[in-house]
Amino acid sequence: MAQHRFDVLIIGSGAAGLSAALHLSQIAKVAVLSKAELTEGSTFYAQGGIAAVLDSKDSIDSHVDDTLIAGAGLCKSEAVRYTVENSRAAIEWLISQGVAFSKNENESTKTDFEYHLTREGGHSHRRIIHSADATGRAVSTTLVGAVKQRSNITLFERYNAVDLITTPDTESNSEHAKRCIGAYALNLDTQQVESFSAKFVILATGGASKVYLYTSNPDVASGDGIAMAWRAGCRVSNLEFNQFHPTCLYHPQARTFLISEALRGEGAVLKRPDGSRFMPEYDQRAELAPRDIVARAIDHQIKKLGVECVFLDISHKQPEFVRNHFPTIHQKCLELGIDITAEPIPVVPAAHYTCGGVKVDLNSRTDVSGLYAIGEVASTGLHGANRMASNSLLECLVFAKSAAENIESKLAEAPDFLEIPAWDESRVTDSDEQIVITHNWHELRQVMWNYVGIVRSNKRLARAKRRIDLLKQEIHEYYSNFKVTNDLLELRNLVLVADLMVQCAQQRKESRGLHYNLDYPQQLSEAEDSIVLADFVG
Ligand code: FAD
Ligand code: SIN
Repeated sequence: MAQHRFDVLIIGSGAAGLSAALHLSQIAKVAVLSKAELTEGSTFYAQGGIAAVLDSKDSIDSHVDDTLIAGAGLCKSEAVRYTVENSRAAIEWLISQGVAFSKNENESTKTDFEYHLTREGGHSHRRIIHSADATGRAVSTTLVGAVKQRSNITLFERYNAVDLITTPDTESNSEHAKRCIGAYALNLDTQQVESFSAKFVILATGGASKVYLYTSNPDVASGDGIAMAWRAGCRVSNLEFNQFHPTCLYHPQARTFLISEALRGEGAVLKRPDGSRFMPEYDQRAELAPRDIVARAIDHQIKKLGVECVFLDISHKQPEFVRNHFPTIHQKCLELGIDITAEPIPVVPAAHYTCGGVKVDLNSRTDVSGLYAIGEVASTGLHGANRMASNSLLECLVFAKSAAENIESKLAEAPDFLEIPAWDESRVTDSDEQIVITHNWHELRQVMWNYVGIVRSNKRLARAKRRIDLLKQEIHEYYSNFKVTNDLLELRNLVLVADLMVQCAQQRKESRGLHYNLDYPQQLSEAEDSIVLADFVG
């Protein structure tokens, strides 16, 4: 078995992982693992932009207040303030790395800031810095270019981390008795498992929206980091709050293409098939209400009218404005026969963002010593019950830096590398029935879509739990008997995360933010996290 040794092992190469790697490369030898190509992750597909306090008419208090309102009472105010206070520095750092944000050229949307700032739902100011409608591509390619220049960073592309390796929990009185000392990862080219020892491990594996049948996310978003952390002994929290983006393109050839909220920020309106607007009937902020409200309104209209989709219309704006601001969306829709400068766009909600995750503090530390979680995999308390648009890339940047700073302060006193046991394949064989994986994969995502979707009920959650328990058992048996493959590893993680999501949803006896339960339509006066404790048996 190939064995590697690094000061810091970072699992994930999105905005969170690569930012942490760049900060740490000054002081440590760093390995970055990515399950697919380095750019393949949600970061690359981000459209709208990054929220930050950049205009002099905006303020930290205003960004903090908007985030708290969108989060429906569940945000941790210290995490919100910490993130927002560090927002300008995070953007300046990205600019210093070479990210080309759109400049401010349009008189009607001009602020006193050099770069163009757009608006999105929940924001009371123009504060979203962006690179046209392909912000993620600009961020991802710039950061990938930068890490490739650093000799202290080694990149392991097409390595799927299987599990974290921890020391036994021997000092049960100590808060951080158990320590993470590395991870096993499947090299997808050789199909061999290799081991990585590290003094510190950072999970930056992104979210888990792939657990739903319809999602805006790329395939890598299978909740691996959440599942690995939970198996290693970390608490996870607030997983019932999976955000559904209100407007994904409804087209048979483009299941996962997002229509950015920035269109609504620049004046697009939602319409029924007969052309009438409906958002003002649901919220006075209309199309710019927070996402949970817009997604639920669309879901309600689709079910009430018995239609397949609703429509998003920006055709009243000048064609040149639309083409300049949304070149990627314009081009993609045109390829599918929709000219967004002249006609409305068919849209539906789809699973988009995992608000909960691995519980961390402001230093991005998890419950297991030496193990950090940053980006979408983490639950910092910033998003509460509903993430405000464009706060997530910001969170990736701010918490990547906080993790790096904390590791820097501890590196000198970190325990030396420990021997890690070899990966044992002596009792498994090659899979003989791949169909078990494909069938269960589809069944799980359908169950989650139908029973743990935008609107839930006690009965639906109980149905989901029964089916997930059965799937878990079957997948566990399969995992115990056959050699690991990429699909099997992802399915094993997805079924565990689905289970944790349902457990969180069942704990919550109210409706709040993204979690709407027909049996508890009211919001309780006290806001509490739902927490699932780790299962220390495995
Ligand atoms: P990701 O960018 O998802 O990267 C995850 C990384 O982990 C990948 O490299 C992957 O290969 C790796 N990985 C996962 N599991 C393993 C494993 N087992 N082993 C090895 N590697 C693994 N947010 C905003 O703030 N603004 C936006 O405009 C915006 N637009 C969005 C548009 C779309 C279509 C989507 C899907 C999301 C959008 N978001 C946006 C959300 C935001 O993009 C994500 O929350 C953010 O990019 C997550 O970054 P990350 O670094 O945590 O994870
Ligand atoms: C979008 O562009 O609508 C996505 C923004 C986000 O998810 O934050």
